[in-house]
Amino acid sequence: MTVHFIGAGPGAADLLTLRGRDLIAACPVCLYAGSLVPEAVLSHCPEGARIVNTAPLDLDGIMAEIARAHEAGQDVARLHSGDLSVWSAMGEQLRRLDAMDVPYTVTPGVPSFSAAAAALGAELTLPGVAQSVVLTRTPGRATTMPEGETLAAFGATGATLAIHLSIQNLPRVVEDLTPHYGADCPVAIVYRASWPDQRIIRATLETMEAAMGEGIERTALILVGHALGAETFGESRLYAPDYDRRYRPQTADSPWAEWSPENE
Ligand SMILES: C[S@@+](CC[C@H](N)C(=O)[O-])C[C@H]1O[C@@H](n2cnc3c(N)ncnc32)[C@H](O)[C@@H]1O
Repeated sequence: MTVHFIGAGPGAADLLTLRGRDLIAACPVCLYAGSLVPEAVLSHCPEGARIVNTAPLDLDGIMAEIARAHEAGQDVARLHSGDLSVWSAMGEQLRRLDAMDVPYTVTPGVPSFSAAAAALGAELTLPGVAQSVVLTRTPGRATTMPEGETLAAFGATGATLAIHLSIQNLPRVVEDLTPHYGADCPVAIVYRASWPDQRIIRATLETMEAAMGEGIERTALILVGHALGAETFGESRLYAPDYDRRYRPQTADSPWAEWSPENE
């Protein structure tokens, strides 16, 4: 018996990896974080599967479900939204499974920040504008931030920020970031990226609060940074006609001239 942790993606049932889909289809038990994983993803479960929404359970309750499947020798598909490497609560479950000597696997998923960038048709790292993306959040009711992990500190780098779990904290986002990015810095809010009711709001730090309007309370990502609105940015050197590189040597004395994929 194995517990398969599967990144269930941002929402659309077809934004799963093939491996994730096949594992869901092969497991007689599916535990899913119902607050964010849409029911459409559960269409991949086999007929007759035991499907449990873990949103109302505490950690002990979730582990009791896993223990029950373990005793019955039934594999479990454990679904969390997006990818498992960020804000999935997978870490504490793995620690319990290690203590119980229950085997597990981890299958990555499409994270919400990349689904949001896709919805915007945006590259978050444009040459000469931004070369880093910071995945972060602001403090919440249940979570404080480690000292030093402040919006102001990340903002001082000028990187593109993908701010999760913070749609309720917009005034603070604006206040902390305006000194670093300027009031006219582009912002995009993507609500329920890839869901049927996805919404996109484009604004600036100055106009963001007014532009947001009603109805967006959760499951939204705030993207901030000059890469979001940049029209003047360099082209990547990788594809520049004169760029000497392994796959496209430019001269006979290029260090790559003798290279070919066959003799790599
Ligand atoms: C508990 S975290 C889960 C993050 C997830 N593990 C990931 O890889 O994106 C939930 C937050 O992720 C963001 N989020 C998750 N799914 C989203 C979606 N489809 N569209 C926009 N934001 C989303 C929101 O900021 C939400 O508050």
